[in-house]
Parts: sequence; structure tokens; C-alpha cells
Amino acid sequence: MSSNDESRFSFFSRKKTPSIDESELKIPTHIAVIMDGNGRWAKKRMLPRSAGHRAGADNLKTLCKNCGHYGIKYVTVYAFSTENWSRPESEVHTLMELFVEYFDRYDPELEQEGIRVRFTGDIEALPENIRAVCKRAEEGSKHRTRMTLIVAFNYGGRREIVQTCQKLAQRVKDGSLDPSSITEEMFASNLYLPDVPDPDLIIRPSGEERTSNFLVWEGAYSELWFSDVLWPDFGMQELTEALVAYTKRDRRFGGLSKEK
Ligand code: IPE
Ligand code: IPE
Ligand code: MG
Repeated sequence: MSSNDESRFSFFSRKKTPSIDESELKIPTHIAVIMDGNGRWAKKRMLPRSAGHRAGADNLKTLCKNCGHYGIKYVTVYAFSTENWSRPESEVHTLMELFVEYFDRYDPELEQEGIRVRFTGDIEALPENIRAVCKRAEEGSKHRTRMTLIVAFNYGGRREIVQTCQKLAQRVKDGSLDPSSITEEMFASNLYLPDVPDPDLIIRPSGEERTSNFLVWEGAYSELWFSDVLWPDFGMQELTEALVAYTKRDRRFGGLSKEK
């Protein structure tokens, strides 16, 4: 696709609702979103940070609907990082409570959209009530096939890699694994969700341009897209803009462009 094609996508004129020819879009199999900016969203409205987190959680429903519209098969969202424990206890508590509330409250809507729910992160280290929520949501949605929503909770890319190393080192110690048989493919097949394809596109709203320990291994070749919009305001227009940008990317994976 050449830059001449840009004119076809009217969002360049900053219209409220982009009217695009959707058949021209390249749809990623897997997108991952860093749901950032809840605190700033609340601050702008002189509301407590907890109100921003609630608005952010509500917006996840919108994202799911919008991704469903485009036929995206996997959506991973960063909801709580291994570093987020360093926030004040009251904020951590709010985030845990919202998490518990969310999956029971929205399950009928997730069901309606055909959304399977899975979790990624150091789930074992979470309190029992949170683990129970994860188990219930995963078990109850197993049969849904339209889209998979993966919630990264107590997730850290470095921790995922370290835990994978620990698992493999244990097998070497037991004598069941020869270190020379550890390849990239074999290592990847021991990460948290080995059957999920790597994210094609990682989106970060809120104006920050970093990945904050998200999908360190899996995102090695992901396209990145940043937006100044704060997560609770991230809607169809922003998702569409991200997909338009993704459509124009030339993913070479170290090789040469197909057009050359
Ligand atoms: C993202 O919003 C939510 C979590 C990290 C759990 P923030 O709370 O980081 O919002 P900002 O970055 O302070 O605006
Ligand atoms: C990343 O946002 C984590 C989540 C959105 C869950 P943070 O707000 O924690 O990231 P930093 O601190 O700006 O890097
Ligand atoms: Mg933040």
C-alpha cells in the first residue's frame, strides 16, 4: 500500500467518525492494549482516581465490541502490572475490587458477543478470591469462539520470562531436559499462553511512549501505535486510526519488503 492511498482514509481530515472503506484495512489477528491514563482522565474532571479506573473498566466493554466489529480474534489488555503493587494500598484495593466485580457483572454481555476470557500473568500469586474469579470466567467462557479477550493481570514480561526459565531449569535439574534442546520455539511454548499468536499490534493510549514491561517476549516484532487520548476515551475512532496506521506498516521481520 502506498502513501497515495492515504486519501482513501478520511480520518486524516479529523472527522469525528472516520468513514473508511473497511475492506481496505489489514486486520491484525491479535491486538494488545495498554489501558493507561485512567488517573489523568479522573484528574481532568476533578474526580478521584478510582472514578478513572471505573471509567477505564467500562471502556473495556467498548473495546471488545469495537474489536468484534473488525473481526479481531485476540485482544490482550494490560490491566495490572507486577509494578502496580507499588501504588498506594487503597488504589491497589480499588483495582482488585473492580476486577472481581467486572467479570460477573459483564459476563452476559461478553457471552452475547461470543467472547472467551483468559488471563495472563502471575495468577498463582494473587489472593484466592481473585484466582476464583479467573477460574470462573475462564471455565464459563471456554465454549465461546468469536473472540478471545486476554486480561493481563499481575503481569510482567520480565517475570514471565523468569518463570519460564525456572520451569525449564527445574526440568534440567530433574534430568528430563537437555539444555541444548532449548530453542526459541521451545522456550516460547513454555510461556504463559503458548497457543496464543504473538500480538501484531500493541496500542498505548495516554501519551506515554513505552511498553512498561508488557509482552516483552511476545511483542518482539509487534507494531507499536501510540495515542494521546486517555484510555477511558479510547473509542472506535482511535481503534480505526490504529488499524489504518497498521494497514500501512511494512512488516519485514528482518527480511526485505515484499514490494522490493
Ligand atoms: C492505568 O491508568 C491503570 C493501571 C495502571 C492499573 P493509570 O492509573 O496508570 O493512569 P495514569 O497514568 O495515572 O493517568
Ligand atoms: C502500564 O501503565 C500498566 C497498565 C496499564 C496496567 P502504568 O501507568 O503502570 O505504566 P508507567 O508507570 O507509566 O510506565
Ligand atoms: Mg499510567
